[in-house]
Amino acid sequence: MKKIQNITKKKNKTKIVCLTAYSKNIAEEIDKYADIVLVGDSLGSVLYNYTTTRKVSLTEMINHSKSVKMGVKKSLLVVDMPYKTYDTNNSALKNAKKIIQETKCDAVKLEGGKKVIKQIRLLIKNKISVMGHLGLLPQTAKGKFKSKGKNSREAKQLMDDAMLLQKNGVFAIVLECVSTSVAKQITQKLSIPTIGIGSSVHCDGQVLVTDDLLGINDTKIRFVKKFMNLKKYINLGLKKFSQEVRSKRYPSKKHSY
Ligand code: KIV
Repeated sequence: MKKIQNITKKKNKTKIVCLTAYSKNIAEEIDKYADIVLVGDSLGSVLYNYTTTRKVSLTEMINHSKSVKMGVKKSLLVVDMPYKTYDTNNSALKNAKKIIQETKCDAVKLEGGKKVIKQIRLLIKNKISVMGHLGLLPQTAKGKFKSKGKNSREAKQLMDDAMLLQKNGVFAIVLECVSTSVAKQITQKLSIPTIGIGSSVHCDGQVLVTDDLLGINDTKIRFVKKFMNLKKYINLGLKKFSQEVRSKRYPSKKHSY
């Protein structure tokens, strides 16, 4: 609970940094800079080449989260509940408990507002901390991914859903691809933090897929800024290794028993 409070009290004070991690070594580095480490079901497209996050299984999420947990010391660890694992109250509670017990994470994230509010209420009643996710919802989006909140109907729906999630006890809400003005209004109205992804600087924090910002996952999504080209450095190391193996410079005596 202390970790959750540390996040919520940042609202209107300091921006919240959230990053995805799928395994231990990278999680260890992310933990130094992030407030929240998210094991996102984006791992489906980033690691497994799935065309949709709908294919990600509970077992995959749990296994990656167990690995991430080993690298996270100070940040809040949040795990995405995959598609179809929270369809009913029973399945939501059973699967959220399984995730928490097996991964020792601090909270779970579910996509949706009114449609999943009964499940969210039940989890919170059972002392499971929940992060919300509104706007573009990759698990249920149909066709081409589009931004949300561009007309007054969508804007009202987003605001209503955000208020409903807050009222029912979620500690923060991810806003994905929500138009700037709507993200700003929601952020100002809520007392819990919003974490934006493609939803402008007005959100209380930002999240990105780490592989995207480091340049190891090729993507052309508008909101992704490539903060470095890690592929270049990976290539340098791999090239050196292959050259030394072929020229028999590696392994030298020093590296042999
Ligand atoms: O799956 C994911 O990584 C996410 C974030 C990008 C918000 O949900």
